[in-house]
Order: sequence, then C-alpha cells, then structure tokens
Amino acid sequence: MKVLVATEKPFSKVAVDGIRKIVEDAGYEFAALEKYTSPEELLAAVADVDALIVRSDKVTAEVVEAAKNLKIVVRAGAGFDNLDLAACTAKGIVAMNTPGQNSNAVAELALCFMIYMSRNQLTPGTGSELKGKTLGIQAYGNVGRLVADHARGFGMNIMAFDPFVPAEAMEKEGVIVAKTLEDLYENSHFVSLHIPATEQTKNSIGYNLLSRMPKGGCLVNTARKEVINEEELIKVLREREDLKYITDVATANHAAIAEEFGKRVFGTPKKMGAETAEANVNAGLAAANQIVDFFTTGNKRFQVNK
Ligand code: 3PG
Repeated sequence: MKVLVATEKPFSKVAVDGIRKIVEDAGYEFAALEKYTSPEELLAAVADVDALIVRSDKVTAEVVEAAKNLKIVVRAGAGFDNLDLAACTAKGIVAMNTPGQNSNAVAELALCFMIYMSRNQLTPGTGSELKGKTLGIQAYGNVGRLVADHARGFGMNIMAFDPFVPAEAMEKEGVIVAKTLEDLYENSHFVSLHIPATEQTKNSIGYNLLSRMPKGGCLVNTARKEVINEEELIKVLREREDLKYITDVATANHAAIAEEFGKRVFGTPKKMGAETAEANVNAGLAAANQIVDFFTTGNKRFQVNK
C-alpha cells in the first residue's frame, strides 16, 4: 500500500514527519511530492499510489485517471472544492476531508484581518476598535463558531446566518440570528465569510449584499475567492468610499484593485488561513489516520462523495 502526500504548498516538517510515522507504522509505503510546479509532476507521482493526501491541490479527472490504483483521497482541510468528486465516484474512489482540524487557524486569521483593517493596515492614523461592533458570520459551521467565540472575547456582538443550523442552537450560544442574508449585511460592521465554494455560493457575494452594509463596513473573506462577484465588489467599493474588503487569497485582479482602493482593501498573496504548525499537524495527521482507518476497518466517516 503506498500513500502519497502531494502538496504544492507543503505542510510543516513536523506534520510531514507525523504523517510518515502513521503511514509507516501501519506498514505502508510513504511518499511525498512537495512544492511541485506543474500538473504533470502530480500526474506522474500518483501513477502507483493507493492513497493520496492533498491540501488545495487540484485532484482533477485527469489526476484520477492517472492514479490507476487509487482507492482513497483525503483533502487535509475543510473545503473540498479542489476535488473532482464525480470523477472519484465514477472510479469508486472514496474522497474525504478532515473537518474542524484547521478551523482555529482560519478563525484566528479572521480576527487578525478585522484588527488589521480597523487599524488602517498598521499604518499611522486613527483607527477603530472591535469592541461594541457587530460581527456578522455567514455560515455558522466549525470556523464560524470559533470566530464567534474569539470575537466575544473582544466584546463584539455576534450575529449569524446559516440556514443549515437551527436558530435555537445559535441563540443558545448568544448569537443574534439573522432572518435573511440581507438582514445580516444590513446590521453588521464586519461580515466574515465561512461558506464553501459550491455552484450555489460562487459569485454570490455582490452588490445587493455589500451595498447594504453600515457605514465603515468591512467584508472579511477567509473562505474562497470564488464566492465573491468581483465586478460587483468593485462597483460597490467605487460607490461607497467607506467600505473595506480583506481577503485570504487575492484574485488575479487584485493588484489593480489595491491600486484603486489603497488601504481599503488587502489580499494575501497565497492562502494562509490554515498556515499554522498546529493546523498542519491536526489536518495532516487526521488525514493519515483516516486513511489507515479506512484500509484497516473500512471506516468512511468523513466521506464527501457519498
Ligand atoms: C481549507 O479549506 O481547509 C482551507 O482553505 C485550507 O486550505 P490549504 O490547505 O490550501 O491551506
């Protein structure tokens, strides 16, 4: 049995060593392809593997086709929009994620983003505080809930919108439940996105929602760049000189956007939400354990292509 860790953006060494140990202790062969620069390298590396661990690496139909022995692919992380699930299912390959394992890292970054923007990106001048402001959380899942926890410590009011979480569950945690997305945006100084990138959510955050934000509102995106309707974002930033936007992973257009809107926008050059040693270890080791568990007991608990 051969397990490949294929990470264009590599895990920390401690995480890789931990994954290797789990794989080798189970009697399997370990291989790693890190910092690869072309899809061809991945295609070659998967040719003889039984299991694959990736981060945001694209597991396309081509990759699935090239991986003749592949039985399981685990996305070490939450969002699995990088996996071609239909291609996996067609080949009988089990696809999993490791939900919750890197959530705290992303949640801490969301708080960091809010402070960074409130303090003019740490440049001289008068900023503002988080205390007393309302934070609107769009999707109250593993990350959203942690963001709420951390934000409470800063004295923020928490509002959330999530059609998949019962209102009572959110209320029990002191969250003001937004009836609609419009309600969330109208009442939040900050909106923090924690939705996955799906056919329904892609391009869904645009003019209608952003233009409703209160004066000085700031959109915080540690989810996916694809959920933003960038043209409409630009339109609203032009119309509303008070609005701000910060994102983990800038789009190709970001240089032009940054030039036009200056300190009102910020984008990280490479997605860094889950870039902590702790998150690497949590997600990486969970992925390795899930693979061993799958091969030894058939456990498919975190399968996402059911
Ligand atoms: C996730 O979905 O888990 C995060 O976006 C982390 O992605 P990464 O592993 O590419 O950093």
